[in-house]
Amino acid sequence: MKKENISIKKMEHTRIKELLQSEDFGKEVIVKGWVRTFRNNQFIALNDGSSINNIQAVVDFENTPDSILKRITTGAAVRVKGNLIESQGKGQRVEVKATEVSIIGDSDPEKYPLQPKKHSLEFLREIAHLRVRTGTFNAIFKVRNALSFAIHKFFQERDFVYFHSPIITGSDAEGAGEMFRVTTLDPINPPLTEDGKVDFKEDFFGKSTNLTVSGQLEGELAALAFSNIYTFGPTFRAENSNTTRHLAEFWMIEPEMAFYELEDNMDLAEDLLKYVIKYALEQCPEEIEFLKNRLLEEEKSKPQAERSELNLVEKLNFVLENNFERLTYTEAIEILLRSKPNQKKQFKYLIEGWGADLQSEHERYLVEKHFKKPVILTDYPREIKSFYMKQNQPDAQGRHTVRAMDILFPGIGEMVGGSQREENLEKLLTRMAEVGIEAEEMEWFLDTRRFGSVPHSGFGVGFERLVLFATGMTNIRDVIPFPRTPKNAEF
Ligand code: 4AD
Ligand code: MG
Repeated sequence: MKKENISIKKMEHTRIKELLQSEDFGKEVIVKGWVRTFRNNQFIALNDGSSINNIQAVVDFENTPDSILKRITTGAAVRVKGNLIESQGKGQRVEVKATEVSIIGDSDPEKYPLQPKKHSLEFLREIAHLRVRTGTFNAIFKVRNALSFAIHKFFQERDFVYFHSPIITGSDAEGAGEMFRVTTLDPINPPLTEDGKVDFKEDFFGKSTNLTVSGQLEGELAALAFSNIYTFGPTFRAENSNTTRHLAEFWMIEPEMAFYELEDNMDLAEDLLKYVIKYALEQCPEEIEFLKNRLLEEEKSKPQAERSELNLVEKLNFVLENNFERLTYTEAIEILLRSKPNQKKQFKYLIEGWGADLQSEHERYLVEKHFKKPVILTDYPREIKSFYMKQNQPDAQGRHTVRAMDILFPGIGEMVGGSQREENLEKLLTRMAEVGIEAEEMEWFLDTRRFGSVPHSGFGVGFERLVLFATGMTNIRDVIPFPRTPKNAEF
């Protein structure tokens, strides 16, 4: 990120990023970092993570003991003292003419898994503890860092309160039953009730609990006190989806606003996404340029038809410069029914008519083929959405819809899911009974509708899907440091 050079602590060494921008030629400097490569017993490419770029340190090998030279290996941590000079070679502006090299931490080149060559993303996923030392992952996690800061900045500038919803809950916010249970009971021999069921009264919390799937319900409580709040934290879904878009542990941003109707909700979501993408472009120009080139390189191996029309930077700017297309679910179904892949039976799941749940192939058709820009779909059928969404009056054909909104992005599909909430107690209770959610467990939530209920709205942004879009990566496992997916919780 671009920022003033503020040292947190006086160190004897200077960060590589600062030196790469410096013009203090001749100045004596100390650098510390990890060796990316060591060529000809002379040229160290050194990286300390402050920049995706390395600094070159030129070793005076004639005056450096062999015992040191042979320990300058890929992955080793070294300290280099020397003078900053204008670089003789091409590829870099400055370099360090070393007068003294010392080893801080050795790295056995026979065993170090990261060789100075191109590794596949699949291989790097297996060594996620070390992949952070590569240029690609340095760039990705710098963009991730900038985006998370931008999210706070956006909301703080608008006077939203950052509200911490609990990680362990007794409720299923989405009503989809995809929860990880939290228990300290003995799995082999749990206490049983008289009718032979596991007795969760004996459990740690005295009831059955799980990891949260969403902070929304608690967010609603807070919105009815502060007016505008947001949560930003990890959420957990035990859905067995092995796709490039799903994680079992992912981060979600969930703003919730009292006195907001669906239109206001959509405006806020669109503003937020544009703001944070703009911030990342401004703060991480080098990282995004690097990722743009990575993607161009990757796409070279694909047939022309599958390559992106826009490069990463163009794609991000395109989102900033264009209004998201807004239409209803009903209008989208009409487009899909008339679409070529539906008529020619190319969709895996054919759209037969109103009421169909949209699969990612349909969402991607709308966004990538039909509108060619982000799309906000609203007013979905009540039956395919969560219980808490505000119900519309039935339409002329008696069809029931809810004030839902999903934001679909090119290459990603669903980036945001949200709605106006049902603020009417009776309607909410009826809907809960219809879908089998017990009101007794939710009295605290229902109190918002009993005491000073107001129209309110909110949405959830899947943070990793946002990072995917901003980095041009294609697998969600590559934009979170340690991905959790079915059958995988390494590190
Ligand atoms: O659409 P979802 O399930 O909505 C909610 O959880 C609401 N409670 C949000 C709200 O209104 N406050 O999830 C929201 C977003 C999705 O649009 C998607 O981007 C992301 O979270 N998401 C996932 N991301 C990664 N892996 C998964 N398994 C995800 N499930 C949802
Ligand atoms: Mg959703």
